[in-house]
Amino acid sequence: MIPLLLQLSDPHFGTERPEVCAALRRLAQTERPRLLLLSGDLTQRARPAQFAAARAFADSLGIARQVVLPGNHDLPLFHLPLRLFAPYARYHRAFGTAHDSLTDLDGLRLIGLDSTRRWRHSDGELSAAQIAQTARHLQDAPPGALRVVALHHPLAVNRATEKHNRVRGHREAIVRWREAGADLVLGGHIHLPSVRRLTDRGRTLWAVQAGTAVSHRTRRDAGNSVNLIRAGRQHGVRIASVERWDYRPADDRFELAALSALPLND
Ligand SMILES: [Fe+2]
Ligand SMILES: [Fe+2]
Repeated sequence: MIPLLLQLSDPHFGTERPEVCAALRRLAQTERPRLLLLSGDLTQRARPAQFAAARAFADSLGIARQVVLPGNHDLPLFHLPLRLFAPYARYHRAFGTAHDSLTDLDGLRLIGLDSTRRWRHSDGELSAAQIAQTARHLQDAPPGALRVVALHHPLAVNRATEKHNRVRGHREAIVRWREAGADLVLGGHIHLPSVRRLTDRGRTLWAVQAGTAVSHRTRRDAGNSVNLIRAGRQHGVRIASVERWDYRPADDRFELAALSALPLND
């Protein structure tokens, strides 16, 4: 199975490790995913040079389709006039798009959401309109498509100490999107990879988090990692295969560290 999607999160250009960037380029060349998802915090401080480096790196991976989402670090923090009046200008200049997007590609429907807010420091938020519009896009997905929602801030976390980082509106989003047929919701922000099952009344939604791809801003117990996602069937059941690839300094390469075959709703 060719990977549908490479999720690369929180690269924080300005704090990137060049050797990890090179190893990730080699992984992309070997695996050849159809689509690159950059799930926010592309830069450390939203500086033009950091955006340019992030853009150059994304392009250097040679993946034809890109879906890019902003993270809280991609809004200027100290440049107050810019933060207030044109917070997405630099992001937009580098990546061309801002805010929400809808992509259909080879049996994948990907809904990208902007969860950043200029008036919140680092917290994320989903509006009622975003939650409702996403539910409609999920319901209208082509039959059999893998239905994926992506945003920078986590919808669900595995650790109690991370609960405050969940996106505002997460409860309603989980209920509405699960009902509307979402398979996976991908997030970043906390630099902690995880997979969490959210099941209610026989329907399941999976919350998948990615670590930081190339930044040295890693957690004590989670190094640099990315997710590769494939779709298929196993014993007659639709599945999403979520692979976590970790950078191993000793071998100077990304290696498959965890494989989750997630059963999906019919
Ligand atoms: Fe981050
Ligand atoms: Fe973040």
